[in-house]
Amino acid sequence: MSSFKQNVVVLTGASSGIGRALARQLAEQGAWLALAARSRDELDDAVHECLAAGRAVGARAIAVPTDVSDEAQCRALVERTVAEYGRIDTLVNNAGISMWARFDALRDLAGLERIMRVNYLGAVYCTFHALPHLKRTRGRIVGVASLTAKTGVPTRTGYAASKHAMAGFFDSLRIELQDDGVSVTMVYPGFVATGVRRHAVGPDGRPLGESPVQEDAVMSADECARLTLRAAARRKRELVMTARGKVGQWLRLVAPSLTDRIAARAIARGR
Ligand SMILES: NC(=O)c1ccc[n+]([C@@H]2O[C@H](COP(=O)([O-])OP(=O)(O)OC[C@H]3O[C@@H](n4cnc5c(N)ncnc54)[C@H](OP(=O)(O)O)[C@@H]3O)[C@@H](O)[C@H]2O)c1
Repeated sequence: MSSFKQNVVVLTGASSGIGRALARQLAEQGAWLALAARSRDELDDAVHECLAAGRAVGARAIAVPTDVSDEAQCRALVERTVAEYGRIDTLVNNAGISMWARFDALRDLAGLERIMRVNYLGAVYCTFHALPHLKRTRGRIVGVASLTAKTGVPTRTGYAASKHAMAGFFDSLRIELQDDGVSVTMVYPGFVATGVRRHAVGPDGRPLGESPVQEDAVMSADECARLTLRAAARRKRELVMTARGKVGQWLRLVAPSLTDRIAARAIARGR
């Protein structure tokens, strides 16, 4: 039997990219989904797609428009989910925005502050309000971080900081929850082909518009979602994706300056 059949999942950032792929794959397993993001239209599309993908296995889905940088909206997301399904089994903190700009090229710090509010505080708000429900079901928390949570990456100062913050928060929470039966799975993808770069904060604080990454040469959102759900199903503590990410973890301990050069080259090459 599928791990997520009739599993009540709150999924943030569900309207596009990795979140959209997660939603579809969860629906195919028969999950009961509360899909959150800011754009109502794209969430409605995602709901239709999930209902079609999971019809044969009893999937359910609702759209809950939410800006995760606003704590009250995160609380409302949790309340709406519980009102609809009666419980929460899984919270996937996936909503995020990126940046692509050197720190010394930034015009001001508004973009960095926004990244921290969405990527880090958004995950904290959702987790805070969902936790009492997750304790009742001995559920799962999933955090979608990034390889930039494991090492520094140029053009990503504020983004890497927000993902390091996520990692520190959830690694600590995992220990606190040991006796509550709630698992915390952190995933660390490398480049994944999504629209994240187009929306990323550029030097002037506005969306970059064009992706500097070779999107057709990097991991697909479907593959990233598949790996994420497998790790969450097994209640793994973390999953570092890509060969470069796995090797980089160990290399960093013995040759940190070489890891820095590899990170710089990845940004220069866009893959
Ligand atoms: N793509 C990569 O290379 C990559 C690599 C490592 C990690 N990640 C992480 O993967 C996660 C998903 O990113 P993606 O690549 O799938 O990018 P994406 O296609 O741009 O999706 C981002 C999602 O987050 C939502 N979102 C953004 N700001 C939000 C806010 N304030 N409140 C609620 N939802 C918000 C977006 O919807 P709305 O705009 O409608 O709100 C969208 O659904 C992010 O946490 C990202 O940091 C991505």
